[in-house]
Amino acid sequence: MYTQDMLESIKKVEATREARLAKVNAGENPRRMTADEKEAVLAAFHPDHITSQFATLKMGPNKGEKVPLELADILQANSRINPADIDLSNPDYDVDVLIIGGGGAGSAAAIMAHENGANAMIVTKLRHGDANTMMAEGGIQAADKPNDSPAIHYIDALGGGHFKNVPELLEKLVTEGPSSIKWLNDLGVMFDKEPDGTMVTTHGGGTSRKRMHACKDYSGAEIMRVLRDEVINRNITVVDFTAAIEIIKDEDGKAAGAVLLNMETKEIRIARAKTVVIATGGAGRMHYQGFPTSNHYGATADGLVLAYRAGAPLLYAYTLQYHPTGVAYPSQIFGALVTEKVRSIGAQLINADGEAFMNPLETRDVSAASIIRECKERGKGVKTPDGGYGIWLDSPMIEKLHGEGTIEKRIPAMMRMYLKYGIDMRKQPILIYPTLHYQNGGIKIGANGMSDVENLFVAGEAVGGIHGENRLMGNSLLDIIVFGRNAGVNAALAAKNTTVGKLTLSHVDDFAKELAEAGIKTDKVSPILLPRYTHGNPKFEAK
Ligand code: FUM
Repeated sequence: MYTQDMLESIKKVEATREARLAKVNAGENPRRMTADEKEAVLAAFHPDHITSQFATLKMGPNKGEKVPLELADILQANSRINPADIDLSNPDYDVDVLIIGGGGAGSAAAIMAHENGANAMIVTKLRHGDANTMMAEGGIQAADKPNDSPAIHYIDALGGGHFKNVPELLEKLVTEGPSSIKWLNDLGVMFDKEPDGTMVTTHGGGTSRKRMHACKDYSGAEIMRVLRDEVINRNITVVDFTAAIEIIKDEDGKAAGAVLLNMETKEIRIARAKTVVIATGGAGRMHYQGFPTSNHYGATADGLVLAYRAGAPLLYAYTLQYHPTGVAYPSQIFGALVTEKVRSIGAQLINADGEAFMNPLETRDVSAASIIRECKERGKGVKTPDGGYGIWLDSPMIEKLHGEGTIEKRIPAMMRMYLKYGIDMRKQPILIYPTLHYQNGGIKIGANGMSDVENLFVAGEAVGGIHGENRLMGNSLLDIIVFGRNAGVNAALAAKNTTVGKLTLSHVDDFAKELAEAGIKTDKVSPILLPRYTHGNPKFEAK
């Protein structure tokens, strides 16, 4: 239910709707910004440009580089273990490929490692499938339509990423797009299709072709359902509620397993492996700059910490994605994702005065910065009872453009989420504001998925560089499949040629020395594994 003030503002949105619809029907949305306009709004309003929110790393492989304050705190922190207390001589698990993380990338890696003859094992700190993949809504990009090509997909993603995408990673992403969709379809993912079986595809922000394949507005949950089934069908071992808290190396410096923590009993376990895949996902629960998040409860940048302490450099860790349309109201679902698909099927972004102030499908960073400007500089945001503000997403336009029933057919989960709070998005617009959604940066890898530490592979959101400084919608579900499969294949192949030497945690000792030499005195331990929502009240602190 909306407040009286909101209802007054909605009247202004309604007053301009027919004229805006007429323009859209005539093929006119608000014009796209010029490159200069984009640069200006990003520099002034995108959170990545607020220099006071970044720290320079004093140690480790990325010494001298800027990262968000909260990330610096956990990268330059103490280990959860004292290596001297850990007995590595009698591992609890001994496998070919150890996969850390049970989301889409980890599951795809496990399936392909198994396919390539490896004994693979997944460890995951929550349950198999508790991951950002599960939360993904709008879809997965792949250039598989006749008017499209991987080359066009490449150009779209490169422009969206501000030309910072690592070329060989981006090339891999787009060229393996069509085969990834086929792989998922063959495994049983129920993509939206026309009656003749053709895949339904739509635009996302920054795409020049309709290449977003979706499963209504729960694409990630559907993909995760199928991947999890495939892992189960193959009898791949999955150890739930078990977090990796340090990478183990062998005496030659190769990754050779992980120290594990049972999240329930707090017991330590040792996994020895010929190769290791980090697929720990994102960092939304770090709540950078105090933003709410669309992310899963476990998204706490663990993989970045594990890799950094093992000596693997990060790439672009300074860039985060703030999804333009997080829920601004009602407060019970503050920060939850409102899929970009709502805009891609016709809803416009409208300010408190009923004006369509921007093209609804600018890239995410530009859209988020423009929304922040509309609220903070131009005073055209709508106030919420919690002291925040938001912008209208004029969802009733969708059915005016495409006919009654479109919302229930194309975005049913979104519709039901709002109905629970007495808001019918078919009839009333919804209030949105940017929410922390994705870490564009992450661990540096080569095209074979390996980090700079031998036999330490990475896949999914923990990787940096595929998307440059800003990812396009639908390229994340694609990257977990392309790079998950890639890591699984290459980790299995590497395992065949690997002899593991004596296990060691000497790098953890070395890291502690470097911390001291850099003059860093901290009581923080990392990875943090779960977010802290205790507001500093010791009564509620986890022991
Ligand atoms: O808006 C969305 O549905 C999000 C998709 C994505 O991050 O790829």
